[in-house]
Amino acid sequence: MSVRGGAPPGVGLGLRWEFLEELLELPASTLPFVEISPENYLRRGGYYPAALERVRERWPVVTHGLTMSVGGTDPFDDAYFRALRAQLERLGATFHSDHLCWSATPENSLHDLLPLPFTDEAVRHVGRRVREASDRLGLPVALENVSYYAPRGPPAMSELEFLLAVLDESDAPLLLDVNHLHVNSLNHGFDPLAFLARVPLERVVEVHVAGHHVWEDGLVVDTHGAAAPDPVHALLAWVVERAGPLPVVLERDQEIPPLPALLDEVRALGETYDRALARWRARG
Ligand SMILES: [Fe+2]
Repeated sequence: MSVRGGAPPGVGLGLRWEFLEELLELPASTLPFVEISPENYLRRGGYYPAALERVRERWPVVTHGLTMSVGGTDPFDDAYFRALRAQLERLGATFHSDHLCWSATPENSLHDLLPLPFTDEAVRHVGRRVREASDRLGLPVALENVSYYAPRGPPAMSELEFLLAVLDESDAPLLLDVNHLHVNSLNHGFDPLAFLARVPLERVVEVHVAGHHVWEDGLVVDTHGAAAPDPVHALLAWVVERAGPLPVVLERDQEIPPLPALLDEVRALGETYDRALARWRARG
């Protein structure tokens, strides 16, 4: 399933409360679009929907969910899906995205993105769940590759094989997080470019970029708490050079700097993106 063109190309920013009001003071030309997590606005009144409306008046809005738990085994939350569908319709969304993980039990959202077992059973299960989620929303649900620190149970296949099988089984578009790819490549010892070479780039509808933290013992933790380092820029460039124009989102969730510094990072990513796009055009 391809939903390319569903969001404006270029480097946008994941919206966070810490700078929402300050961002709204800036001209629309500051960003091509913003990405929001609908969970921050769903089933809330007053300031929250009003703030989202102000954002929407200024920028196209792309949606990225946190709590669908697409790999979970409990039935989907009906009320969540009803509210999410209504919001996506209000925003005129052409696709929605969430993580290729599980993150909830019937009683609790675990507020963590937990890896799925890399097994055939999980592939079939996620495939069914993604198709159900898309039916419920009336939109394609793009899956994001996640970072993980240990496989869940003995893996029957690699992370890459699992991702490819799930995309086939679900017919879902891919939200490619190049920071997650970089983090996993360091922690699990594989070549991220060999991984990317097997990703069906025509399925990629959006790219995420972020930074991470490297501990003294070498473990790389996906904090979204630092600027994206050069290797992440390089992976972004590799993708854009081969896939062409795409929406790219800078995600920052911890140690959020003052807005001007964050926008400087958006500009730096934009330079990487523009150079890669020029190479894509030169390839004809
Ligand atoms: Fe991401």
